[in-house]
This record gives sequence, structure tokens and C-alpha cells, in this order.
Amino acid sequence: MENWKNDFLTNKRYLEVTNGILYISDVVELLQQIPDNSIDLVVTDPPYNSSIEWDNKNDEWQFLWLEQIKRIMKEGASFYCFFAPMNMYNIEGWIRTNLTLKNVAVWYHPNLYAAGMSYGKDRWKSTWDVIFYAVKGSISKCTKNISTHAWRNWQRGFDVFYIPDERPKLHKAQKPLKLIMKLIDASSNEGDLVLDPFIGSGTTAVACERLGRKWIGIELEEKFCNIVKNRITGVNEDILRMSKLFNSETKKK
Ligand SMILES: C[S@@+](CC[C@H](N)C(=O)[O-])C[C@H]1O[C@@H](n2cnc3c(N)ncnc32)[C@H](O)[C@@H]1O
Repeated sequence: MENWKNDFLTNKRYLEVTNGILYISDVVELLQQIPDNSIDLVVTDPPYNSSIEWDNKNDEWQFLWLEQIKRIMKEGASFYCFFAPMNMYNIEGWIRTNLTLKNVAVWYHPNLYAAGMSYGKDRWKSTWDVIFYAVKGSISKCTKNISTHAWRNWQRGFDVFYIPDERPKLHKAQKPLKLIMKLIDASSNEGDLVLDPFIGSGTTAVACERLGRKWIGIELEEKFCNIVKNRITGVNEDILRMSKLFNSETKKK
């Protein structure tokens, strides 16, 4: 079962668990080492091209990692990418040219910033991030009816995700676990390999552990890799505890 990891770079591994690998690396350097057509689903939340420390990038830099992502996605693999509405247009253009854009979805989060906080005094408070959803090729290889599946499992199948920002946070840009789980559940199957090339505090990895997906994460900063490690170790202990409890309960019957 663990053989799947043999297909991927052995250097730069910060953490390995049965279902996952966390790499500590620059994203483009690492993506260049990933084989063509090897990823079933990408869920990611890159720097947003804003002026804040970790966010301070530009479109040309975004296109470098996006080109690699396109190469390593399997035909029909799905791609979810968060971005800032104010800076999204060239990223959307790249996606429209290189993948098949299926939805321009929204994460609506009126509780994310304090009431008066926004991009400036002369602007309305910003309450949403865009989530691009696209597929490599024309049709998703995951054959679920997304909307029906989401209604059945998550009581909602709309392209506006109204899921409050979670507190406390381990990373300033941490996304709600429920939201990431919903995306992964809708667009992959158990055992599929999910990649998050900007994993931050590891929300995608935690979601994959809970949903039985394999995962690869990439993160540049050691402090965030350490947070991922703590979260994943905790998750594994939880799963172990729950399965031991389940086994002992079923034996009693
Ligand atoms: C928006 S955050 C992701 C947060 C994540 N979604 C979560 O729930 O915690 C983006 C992450 O990308 C990382 N990053 C920025 N530049 C990078 C690079 N060149 N290579 C790899 N990771 C990078 C940052 O350190 C940051 O943790």
C-alpha cells in the first residue's frame, strides 16, 4: 500500500505517513520533480499577489507553478484554487486557456475580517475569496454528480460556500477544514492522490486523512511544516483511537 510513495522524490521529505508526504521546498523546484500525469486532484491556496509578506508574488510567478501543475495532473483530474477577487483576472485567463474552467465559485466569509477592515477606507469590506474549479481536458474523471453528492453529504450543493472562518487559527491564511473536505469529497474517490503545493498549516492533508485520500503537500517554511506535522500526528492518533474503540465495541457484540 505504501508503494505509491516510491514514484515520488525521496529528498526534501519533512514528514511521511502511510497516506501522505510533506515536502519542505520551493514549490516550482519540487513540482519539477513530480512525474507527468500522476495527480488525481489539486486543492490549493497560493499567495494572492498582495503586498503582505507571504502573499507578495506576481502573475509571472504564478504561471510558473501553474504550468507544472498542468503537466502533473492526470487527464480529467480536477483543480481547485483559491484567489483574491481583486487580483484574479490573469489567473482566471491562464486557467481558461490551459484547463477547462467549470465554476468560478465563492468562499463567503463575512466573519474573516473585523467590521471596518478591508482593502482601504474608500472601499467596501471584502467578504469573499474566489475558488476556481477546473478540469484537465474537457470532462472530470471523477464521475460523481457534484451537486447531488454535495446535497446528500453536506446538505448544500451551491457554488457559494458560506462556511465561517475558523478560530483559533494555526496560520493566518488557514482555510476551514469543512470547506476543504467538501471540495475533496466532491471531486475525488477514496485512494486518489491529492496535491496541495502551498499547504500552509496542512488543512488539505488533514482533510485527506479523514476522507481516506493519499496526499502530497509542499511548504517552504519550516514553522508551517512543523504545524502540519503536529496536526497530522494528532489526526493519525485520533483515527487509531477511533478504530481501536470501534474494533473493541464490535468484538463485544
Ligand atoms: C495561503 S497559505 C496556505 C494556507 C493553507 N490553505 C492552510 O489552510 O493553512 C500559502 C502558503 O504558501 C507558502 N509558500 C509561499 N511561497 C512558497 C513557495 N515558493 N514554495 C512553497 N510554499 C510557498 C507560504 O509559506 C504559505 O504557508
